[in-house]
Amino acid sequence: MNITIFGTGYVGLVQAAVFAEAGYNVTCVDIDAEKVSRLKKGEIPIYEPGLEHLVKENGTTERLHFTTDASVGIARSSIQFIAVGTPPDEDGSADLKHVLAVAKEIASHMEEHRIVVVKSTVPVGTSDQVRAMMLRTLKERGRDDLTFDVSSNPEFLKEGSAVADCTKPDRIIIGTECAETERALRELYAPFNRNHDKIISMDVRSAELTKYAANCMLATKISFMNEMANLAEKLDADIEKVRLGIGADPRIGYHFIYPGVGYGGSCFPKDVRAMIRLAQTSGYDPMVLNAVEQRNEQQKHVLFAKISGHFEGDIEGKTFALWGLSFKPNTNDMREAPSRVLMAALWQAGAKVRAYDPEAMDECRRIYGDREDLLLCASKEEALEEADALVVVTEWKSFRAPDFEAMKRVLRNPIIFDGRNIYDPVVASRKGLLVFSIGRTGQL
Ligand code: UGA
Repeated sequence: MNITIFGTGYVGLVQAAVFAEAGYNVTCVDIDAEKVSRLKKGEIPIYEPGLEHLVKENGTTERLHFTTDASVGIARSSIQFIAVGTPPDEDGSADLKHVLAVAKEIASHMEEHRIVVVKSTVPVGTSDQVRAMMLRTLKERGRDDLTFDVSSNPEFLKEGSAVADCTKPDRIIIGTECAETERALRELYAPFNRNHDKIISMDVRSAELTKYAANCMLATKISFMNEMANLAEKLDADIEKVRLGIGADPRIGYHFIYPGVGYGGSCFPKDVRAMIRLAQTSGYDPMVLNAVEQRNEQQKHVLFAKISGHFEGDIEGKTFALWGLSFKPNTNDMREAPSRVLMAALWQAGAKVRAYDPEAMDECRRIYGDREDLLLCASKEEALEEADALVVVTEWKSFRAPDFEAMKRVLRNPIIFDGRNIYDPVVASRKGLLVFSIGRTGQL
């Protein structure tokens, strides 16, 4: 089977590699010529565990093809995936220009029936816009005899485990009103739909909303827990105990109830805002989502408030070791990362940062360039040297069991601000370190 995927970002590239591994011939189309030429050489532009291996295993030559020439991809496959980015517009709504440009491209080149599958995260109603754009373009070409179907097939992959999520999906949402499209997509996903049926088929608009609703629900869990954590501090309780206590209820569950420094990344912040805009433009007041978004914005300032509180506002001239730059572990992605809000606040207050991250150092260099108040360190130990305190922003595994005694010797003050609750304050205090966590007893 031949498949074409437009967009070689996280979603497109991972899905392409996984399809190719299953035995399909996949053509990836991207307008970024430099990216395409790097991919042709087997260079992967993003850090995603297992992806490089998968792309190389498949032989960038054999089943996985990269091109900037859309017409090649359109001619080659009956199924055309749209997996291009939907960056936020100025008002927070998703900008569909890339999605609609691909729709136009497909309609400009197709010569026979095509199934267009929208995989990008898009607002409800986008598939209708894709359909309208294609109809218009075909009409302009004088080819309105050609048929096509537009369906919605959102992805639910997480950065850092994208390959596994794609290979073993917990559900496959197929949004279409066309029986023939459903049959084709069921066949396409058959290698990933074993043991039990993971395919949930529905109408296009419900499929589009399912994607946003899932991310908004998860973001809501996080903001709720962050609110409880902040309250626990006020009430002299320990959120980690509360987390264990509530997670035992299967209706709540243990997933996604970890308090921290706010959610980041390329999905939750953008999707919550886009959902808010979508609700507003539909004449509905999204009270819950507004609160989720506001709590998250505020949560990203919690660490700085703790630091400033402890040093009684005397931050100027101080140096802070910062462990973790990426928005979460196992990725080099710093989009909307809480570390960025913290660094901005520290710099604003006149402090210096000695930062270390297992994967995001190049990304950090790309974003900030050379600055006097930012030193990118080669190891987590180096970051501690001459620092007034340590701040942990991302819960990378390699940060979980540090040598507290060595840490105490190196740091100017034996203090850790733990934004992810990875350290037990009691254990650390036995080694002479004071740990400030999120939502734990008496640590305002
Ligand atoms: C998220 C969803 O989890 C995926 O299901 C979805 O497909 C994806 O967005 C997308 O729309 O493409 P991702 O952004 O990769 O995936 O990252 P998550 O693992 O969900 O983490 C998001 C943020 O929430 C991170 O900043 C993380 O630190 C934070 N988080 C997560 C918490 O603060 N507490 C938790 O308990 C869980």
